[in-house]
Amino acid sequence: MKTMEAIEERFSCRAYSDKSIPDAVIQALQNEIQVINDDNDLNFQLYGALEDGSPAFSLSQQMFAGTAPWFAALVGPDTDLGKEQVGYFGECLVLLATQLGLGTCWVAGTFDRSAAKFEAREGDVLHDIIPLGYAAEKTPLKQRTVRAALRKRDKKPGAMLKGVNWDDAPAWIKDAIESVILGPSAVNEQPVVFEIDADGVVRATVPTIKSGLELTDLGIAKLHFQLAAGNSGIAGAWEWGDGGRFLLA
Ligand SMILES: Cc1cc2nc3c(=O)[nH]c(=O)nc-3n(C[C@H](O)[C@H](O)[C@H](O)COP(=O)(O)O)c2cc1C
Repeated sequence: MKTMEAIEERFSCRAYSDKSIPDAVIQALQNEIQVINDDNDLNFQLYGALEDGSPAFSLSQQMFAGTAPWFAALVGPDTDLGKEQVGYFGECLVLLATQLGLGTCWVAGTFDRSAAKFEAREGDVLHDIIPLGYAAEKTPLKQRTVRAALRKRDKKPGAMLKGVNWDDAPAWIKDAIESVILGPSAVNEQPVVFEIDADGVVRATVPTIKSGLELTDLGIAKLHFQLAAGNSGIAGAWEWGDGGRFLLA
């Protein structure tokens, strides 16, 4: 599966089967985590079942049906940059897991934080967890209803673009914003706005910060935008931060 297909296939999986994950798949995720941690000030970790067979993290059964056998713990500095990089690199991991056939879900709130065990350096926090497992063969009605209700909030692509009318925007920017809309964001707020200045430079901004998770959403949105732009033949990389520019290669 290509990365762009993974962007299309991914969804927040809230019902898992009890099928175990082969060692080679876990190793591929572990390798990706190693590269992410080596190259950035992040401390992502992968956890399988505990010694007594119980899951490493406890997902709220109000939201989820069953549990995943593995979890990524997205641990990193409690800073604005940390939050954004957790978004960007956490979503790299989510897209890889999708390519490997796994279901995933970003989870910041609906798990038992008080019972969460993970390794932390000074200044680290557990930003989010990502359950990793095979999707249940049939998604229960409750989980289908939850997703449909959240996805009803989808923004119109034009609402995520400033500085140019949607109809006048270059095709690659429109495609990139459509890819951002397919992506995950906390309670599907889709808080990122892409601003194009008079020179055609694109900036990614979060005009309103409510929960603090918007910076993680910003990192996720930047990754999706960048991957879709590359797919349109426009290679570039983002500056970090709210208002960071997309610098063409
Ligand atoms: C930073 C972040 C935190 C999230 N936290 C939760 C959560 O605690 N519980 C949950 O069920 N979904 C959570 N989500 C998933 C979003 O609700 C989901 O991405 C959004 O509704 C879009 O739906 P989709 O991912 O199925 O396309 C979170 C997503 C992000 C990006």
